[in-house]
Amino acid sequence: MEQLQITGGKSLYGELEIAGAKNAALPILCASLLSAEPLEISNVPDLHDVATLCRLLAQMGVKIERTPHHIYLDAKSLTSTTAPYDLVKTMRASILVLGPLLARFGEARVSLPGGCAIGSRPVEQHIKGLEAMGAKITIEEGYIHAMASRLKGARIVTDMITVTGTENLLMAATLADGQTIIENAAREPEVSNLAYLLNAMGARISGIGSDRLVIDGVTELHGVTAANPAATIIADRIEVGTFLCAVAATSGEVVLKNAYSAVQPFWLDCLDAVIDKLRQAGAEIETHSSYCKIKMNQRARAVSFRTQEFPGFPTDMQAQLMAVNCTAQGSSTMIETIFENRFMHVNELRRLGADIMVDGHTAVCQGVEKLTGAPIMATDLRASASLVIAALCAQGQTKIERIYHLDRGYESMEKKLGLLGAQIERV
Ligand code: EPZ
Repeated sequence: MEQLQITGGKSLYGELEIAGAKNAALPILCASLLSAEPLEISNVPDLHDVATLCRLLAQMGVKIERTPHHIYLDAKSLTSTTAPYDLVKTMRASILVLGPLLARFGEARVSLPGGCAIGSRPVEQHIKGLEAMGAKITIEEGYIHAMASRLKGARIVTDMITVTGTENLLMAATLADGQTIIENAAREPEVSNLAYLLNAMGARISGIGSDRLVIDGVTELHGVTAANPAATIIADRIEVGTFLCAVAATSGEVVLKNAYSAVQPFWLDCLDAVIDKLRQAGAEIETHSSYCKIKMNQRARAVSFRTQEFPGFPTDMQAQLMAVNCTAQGSSTMIETIFENRFMHVNELRRLGADIMVDGHTAVCQGVEKLTGAPIMATDLRASASLVIAALCAQGQTKIERIYHLDRGYESMEKKLGLLGAQIERV
């Protein structure tokens, strides 16, 4: 089992290219199921989760040609409309094939995604919305079995804001008969990236970026080539935030660049909540059209925060900013409002000497002068990023086990950090 070996105490200097967003790539790859014509997507991140989804789509009969950052998908004729348990259990985002399969083929059998480390992650909102559009859905032997001759437009109000729930219903609605309104829609930039691509495929979606999406169904969607800017995955805001936290914790000066800023001019606007917190912590952060720069030459000040749906502070950044708070000056209160069990990194941070107390959805951290390296274990994707950040500023050596969690959402994290001067290697 691979591990990361990190010797902390090094400041980070240099510049990095930010990859495409995992949570935009996954729904966009599933959108290929909506059309008989091919889809070409660029700036796709080279991640395990993307490879897993490509395997699932190929198993259904989608023809896929893939280079590390560019994917061509042709879903002209499928051989199966089933997403099997053995693949879905390794990646919950497989649920995103449900809406497109039902909308274009009238049938789908998708394994119920199990829970995961951070929570039970139910999908009843996805099902409720599709039933509102006329789908007949039963749960048999751990599978969601959905049937619909043709989905009908409906007004859907989800009980809570759900990112993949909004994406599943949005994709289904593009081919439904009539108008669908999704109230309480998720406003994450990844949802908008998907919506603009769907419109480039011929869908008729309005209200993009708002919590009210209005979709006028059409009978079919056409393909899109990579020449269309809508077929470019947006920069990964969580990767940007993760590296900003790494510099805020270790000190240094780093530039993070987006090679696609020409077609994504406002790519940093979606990180306001994170940048604001890191500025409060004492980091100097400049944002420009094609890059952002962080300078940190002092011990961070502790910052409190509460996670919220976009545009609030993202839950996917909670563990990383907690790592900064571990050695910051003062105490901080961190409230996780989205998932019920997203403090798995706390026990591992404590092993490095962090002083954190958890009570339900609230963690209180007293910043300590220094952390000390020790063997620790990753439990989920963003928790593993948090452990890397803490290890980078711990004294001595840290070994992090189960780093396959990290590879799900970050392209060769250790290579990128090594380029910035960190002493880190995969063993
Ligand atoms: C997406 O997960 C992201 N994954 C997650 O990123 C992210 O943490 C999450 O949104 C919140 O921003 C992808 O986009 C592939 P939700 P998702 O549905 O859609 C509850 C990462 O690290 N809920 O918005 O599964 C749910 O339990 C991953 O990249 C229901 O109760 O999250 C949670 O408490 C982790 N019933 C809350 O809503 C439902 O039917 C938000 O979940 C749906 C959701």
